[in-house]
Amino acid sequence: MRIGSLTSANPFVLAPMDGYSDAAFRAVCRNAGAGLCFSEMIPAVALVHNAVKPRESLRIEPSDHPVVVQVSGADPATMREAARLAEAAGADAVDVNAGCPSRRVTNGGAGAALLSDLPRLAAILKAVREAIRVPLTLKVRVGPTADRIVLDDLARIAQDCGVDAVTVHARTRAQRFLGRADWRFIARFRERASMTVIGNGDVQSAADAFRMIRETGCDGVMVGRAAIGNPWIFTQMVALWSGGPAPRDPDLSERRAAILAHYDSLVRVLGGDEARAARVFRKHLARYVRGLPGALRVRRALPGVSSRADLLSTLGALGAACEDAGGPPRSEAVTETETVTEAVTETVTETETVTGFP
Ligand SMILES: Cc1cc2nc3c(=O)[nH]c(=O)nc-3n(C[C@H](O)[C@H](O)[C@H](O)COP(=O)(O)O)c2cc1C
Repeated sequence: MRIGSLTSANPFVLAPMDGYSDAAFRAVCRNAGAGLCFSEMIPAVALVHNAVKPRESLRIEPSDHPVVVQVSGADPATMREAARLAEAAGADAVDVNAGCPSRRVTNGGAGAALLSDLPRLAAILKAVREAIRVPLTLKVRVGPTADRIVLDDLARIAQDCGVDAVTVHARTRAQRFLGRADWRFIARFRERASMTVIGNGDVQSAADAFRMIRETGCDGVMVGRAAIGNPWIFTQMVALWSGGPAPRDPDLSERRAAILAHYDSLVRVLGGDEARAARVFRKHLARYVRGLPGALRVRRALPGVSSRADLLSTLGALGAACEDAGGPPRSEAVTETETVTEAVTETVTETETVTGFP
């Protein structure tokens, strides 16, 4: 997939997810096969004022490429400055967030509020475009409400402002995370837009990704919730994409190795602060073990996981539970409601997020 001067090895993209898509999770998804990773959203005002958390989010390791850094804000001048900082930090592209429905973001006129203030969105895109040399991308929902779909305007504005790729999350702002994403909106946008289009919303398997490409003609597929605790979704997508057989689900020891690698990477990213890494990691751990025998026991033990040693002993208990259950993990069909509820609960309770998304 090409986004301006940026090329990704395949069309499969890790979504920006506040509280999740940090450098450690990006590394995990990249190793699993994701061709392109987005950062979690970075609030422009806080970044420009040099706050600690956004500066941390902007740290890009040499192996963390290609990476799109997402910034959110409502003031064109501040967004311009934030985009400049993102480019200077090594971003391969800068993304403008016009899709976040969280009130903490929209109250200030940013995120999905921009769908109701298109002149402001255009001013932001123009300001950012002028400030950076790397590609500019935009992430949108389809409109504020079902009776105010603004995709046609968005296609025109993106074109006029030199946007290189648009991600369409096929829901309205009002829908938040409820109901199904309607992929027909992605197809409609694809028809009208000349730039690269990334489809997004409710891709839960490799088969879904191919169905989205087939049904909408999108150039790339962005995966959010389904990658949490399951980065192997990218391995499966890449295998199908290269014409190979679908790989089997990871067994317990592969899962255990991946969990530890993710945790170790997070400790590194957080400068060796194990206690903090363990706190941040709990929500990932809950998702890694979902559907396995012993998952409930692990979830109950989560508040006590404060170090690598705690993690190892929790994984040991999980292994024993799996052996008792006499077999490999069963793969689980996850309903959208479960996914959303868990993501929300975990985000709010386990991490300090900028947005309290969604
Ligand atoms: C926990 C969480 C955090 C998110 N944070 C962001 C964000 O920072 N920026 C953004 O544009 N979208 C954010 N999203 C939306 C996702 O990028 C994506 O559009 C949405 O989850 C739909 O895709 P999915 O069905 O594959 O999850 C977030 C979603 C979740 C569940």
